[in-house]
Amino acid sequence: MQRIRSRIAEKFDDEIRFIKGMISTPKTVGAIMPTSARMAARMASAIDMDSGLPVLELGPGTGVITRAILDRGLPPQKLVSVEYSSEFVRHLRDKYPGVNFVNGDAFSLAETLSDFRGQKFDCVISGLPLLNFPMHKRVGLVEDLLKLVPAGRPVVQFSYGPVSPVVARPDSYAIKHFDFVVRNIPPAQIWHFRKTH
Ligand SMILES: C[S@@+](CC[C@H](N)C(=O)[O-])C[C@H]1O[C@@H](n2cnc3c(N)ncnc32)[C@H](O)[C@@H]1O
Repeated sequence: MQRIRSRIAEKFDDEIRFIKGMISTPKTVGAIMPTSARMAARMASAIDMDSGLPVLELGPGTGVITRAILDRGLPPQKLVSVEYSSEFVRHLRDKYPGVNFVNGDAFSLAETLSDFRGQKFDCVISGLPLLNFPMHKRVGLVEDLLKLVPAGRPVVQFSYGPVSPVVARPDSYAIKHFDFVVRNIPPAQIWHFRKTH
């Protein structure tokens, strides 16, 4: 009972922290509520636990998706997670010891991941508010991220719109609609992007 109460209190604290972030930097946070545990679990379901490779997370915020990734059984040391807000990063480092949180910009990957140069990841799980960025930056990001994962492995991204948040470029990547999660506020789509060559 005590454990359930502290989980509820923790969730409430996170929601307040998220809303404060949303008020101070609306374009960066880009959502009205943290992702639901249901959607986070669906996103994390893409991880191949047998690959032996680390996972790259983008935009963890208060850590709902981080938790779902760790709940798959990934050791914290095998998770690299890039967050722009130093305040979220301070909180995340306390909450998830052992995870490699990098305080940086996901759109400057070479600089942000300089400590992990040459590292391949099993997949990328992104909670970035992509719709707040111009299309050429979204396309560039997906293409750069796909260089970090083996052929066939996905970049996973959610969005609130009905269509893919990144335009099709069949010569470069394939887009798969993975799920529509109604139990999220607002309901959201999950997309998988994979290299086509
Ligand atoms: C929509 S929130 C998602 C938070 C969390 N993953 C969730 O699903 O509840 C977007 C997160 O991405 C972070 N973010 C936005 N732009 C970023 C960037 N360029 N690089 C890294 N993180 C960024 C924000 O600070 C925020 O924590």
